Amino acid sequence: MSTTALDGIGLLVTGSPEYRDGSPLGEITDAALVVDEDGRVAWVGSSRQAPAADFHVGAAGRCVVPGFVDSHSHLVFAGDRAAEFDARMAGRRYEAGGIRTTVAATRAATDAELAANLARLVAEMRRQGTTTIEIKSGYGLTVRDEARSLAIARQFTEETTYLGAHVVPEGSDPDEYVALVTGAMLEAAAPYARWIDVFCERGAFDEDQARTVLAAGAATGLRGRLHANQLGPGPGVRLAAELGLVAVDHCTYLDDTDVAALADSGTVATLLPGVEFSTRQPYPDARRLLDAGVRVAIASDCNPGSSYTSSMPLCVALAVREMRMTPAEATYAATAGGAAALDRADVGRLAPGSRADLVLLEAPSHVHLAYRPGVPLVAATWLSGRP
Ligand code: NIG
Ligand code: FE
Repeated sequence: MSTTALDGIGLLVTGSPEYRDGSPLGEITDAALVVDEDGRVAWVGSSRQAPAADFHVGAAGRCVVPGFVDSHSHLVFAGDRAAEFDARMAGRRYEAGGIRTTVAATRAATDAELAANLARLVAEMRRQGTTTIEIKSGYGLTVRDEARSLAIARQFTEETTYLGAHVVPEGSDPDEYVALVTGAMLEAAAPYARWIDVFCERGAFDEDQARTVLAAGAATGLRGRLHANQLGPGPGVRLAAELGLVAVDHCTYLDDTDVAALADSGTVATLLPGVEFSTRQPYPDARRLLDAGVRVAIASDCNPGSSYTSSMPLCVALAVREMRMTPAEATYAATAGGAAALDRADVGRLAPGSRADLVLLEAPSHVHLAYRPGVPLVAATWLSGRP
């Protein structure tokens, strides 16, 4: 039972309003942070005022930010789609149907193969500063394959999402498939899931089907979230706002009604710039959302089709460069924003009571995340106060 002080922090990003001091990120210079025996933050403040601790770790003037909260990923799969990416870069369009290629490979893989691939991707994420990870199913699309995908994901995170409604699998009748997703598949998946998600998009599921799936999930105790307005305008974002969902993800094609609905409902708009990067689509306009008072998160959407990056620092850099966010807004969206998108109060910031999940950057400021794109700036990642 002991406390650890991380001191010599050049700049500490708390992400917490009480330390704002005019800085939107709640920044403290020449700071220290004390972790208690439970891996929680016990104290943050100026180094000079730090309380005594049993152990000391020196940050050598580095910047410390909250660990990234990646609130959207699809890490349970087998194979890759490099050939599809290659063809896209030669001019082909991205289509939802590519998902079926990964479904075939995932069904053919053993549990051990899926778990090993997942472990590899989680390790990649940790090395790049991600400390909380949401993981979806959605490449199984049978009762057995969705349930085992979620059981494997559960070994890595509490934030698991049942996405049986990803696409209608090859050869299935859409109505019969929705009945399966809301019936036997839901029953098998629910014990391993916290959330339920639907890809509400042309070529996947329409508004009525999304309502049906979300209602069935809610009746089983799963909380809803949506993939919406990714490939074109559509009803998904308004549906998420109407139902008061915690988050709606992608939000690439929005009209004024969609933006107003998000601002009114408080639903977090999760933007996934890795997708636009990898599909050559136009980026969502984060500035428009922020100026309208919408809560914004950034996530990787790591998956083998539309966004095969596990890097939150890359997503922060893209958000700043391509989505008109300031560096402070992007860092906030990738930490506290992701926590809001998962309805988590214990992560995404560094203030007394929060989990001591943090990143030491090989840089004097969080601005370097966008300023030095592609550079491995993560010197260390701590989970619950442990490197
Ligand atoms: O979030 N939009 C739907 N699902 C994934 C893409 C999955 C794939 O292409 O394999 C996404 O972009
Ligand atoms: Fe996704």
